[in-house]
Amino acid sequence: MSLLPYPLLRPFLFCLDAEKAHDLALAQLERLQHSPLRALLQQPRVADPITLAGLRFPNRVGLAAGLDKNARCIDAWGALGFGLVEVGTVTPLAQAGNPKPRIFRLPQSQALINRLGFNNDGLAAFVANVRRSHLRAQAPGGTAGASSSNGAIGTDGAAPALVLGLNIGKNAATPIERASDDYLTALEAVYPHADYVAVNISSPNTQNLRALQSDAALEQLLAALAQRRAELSAASGVRRPLFIKIAPDLEAEQIEAIAAALLRHGMDGVIATNTTLSRSAVQGQAHADEAGGLSGAPLLHASNAVVRALRQRLGPHFPIIGVGGILSGADAISKIEAGADLVQLYSGLIYRGPALVLEVAQALQRSRRP
Ligand code: FNR
Repeated sequence: MSLLPYPLLRPFLFCLDAEKAHDLALAQLERLQHSPLRALLQQPRVADPITLAGLRFPNRVGLAAGLDKNARCIDAWGALGFGLVEVGTVTPLAQAGNPKPRIFRLPQSQALINRLGFNNDGLAAFVANVRRSHLRAQAPGGTAGASSSNGAIGTDGAAPALVLGLNIGKNAATPIERASDDYLTALEAVYPHADYVAVNISSPNTQNLRALQSDAALEQLLAALAQRRAELSAASGVRRPLFIKIAPDLEAEQIEAIAAALLRHGMDGVIATNTTLSRSAVQGQAHADEAGGLSGAPLLHASNAVVRALRQRLGPHFPIIGVGGILSGADAISKIEAGADLVQLYSGLIYRGPALVLEVAQALQRSRRP
């Protein structure tokens, strides 16, 4: 267990505006991660290895994108025992996002609604932060190694390091018809530093972004990404996996079309799901009518249904990262049973704190060895 007394800190954090609490927590993690007090964060990294898309993950629990948009706390997440850390979404240029307030807690449902709108410091700051992380600084050449798929090494030099995913998006000011330009710019910048690149086409808070999940737009984007990845791969000698992150609010035919497009364009994995626009599970609660994406416990079943549909259409071996609504070890197991290979957490960390990382990792480890 981390020595951070989260059950004691939580009431204090929950008295603050949700985004203020988030900023405060991140600032403390950033300070602690490279100080002697780093020991306060330390939790065991449960050994439950799995190899997917050519990457060796030390365990099956990951940090979901959006909690650390600027990649400031990579080493803190590593200390908490994650096997996989995804940072971003980063856009080519820095942008402020939507007006505040823009994150709301729905504690009765252990849920959040956010409409942040990709607030971030832009690619240059993001890449600088990734490079500054001890995880990357210790890796051969200071970046993800050229010879191994995940070149970072563990702090003890032997244990497999966590896997680092870099999540990219488009600037709000870029017209949707030119979205590919932003994704390609971002892909090029993050490529040398990522173990995998996550392509976020499913935030509900950037106008028209989810339209990129539909046929013609998806075809064009995936073709462009595949071609640029082939060029980057030829130039560097390293083929980085590309994972596409999709929404939970999709009809069966859309999921089928997306699955076919992922296979056709040689994508390496899918991350399912982002937040939902549905409010059916939280009707009548304070903040339920706020615009934005709903995450947390009410998302579990809808998100698991998408994972299940994807698994049916993609076959047994296509990598699926399941995210949405995990508040306990049992929730994580339900997502693996739906067909996910790995899971990620966001809202559960806000409600449960670092103990959830250990609980989920141990539950998944136990579920593998009856
Ligand atoms: C997110 N999420 C998200 N996803 C993404 O790909 N890029 C992003 O920038 C963000 N930003 C973001 C901010 C906030 C405040 C929340 C709550 C969520 C979505 C997140 O990664 C995840 O897919 C969903 O939150 C569902 O998982 P949980 O929260 O139910 O575990």
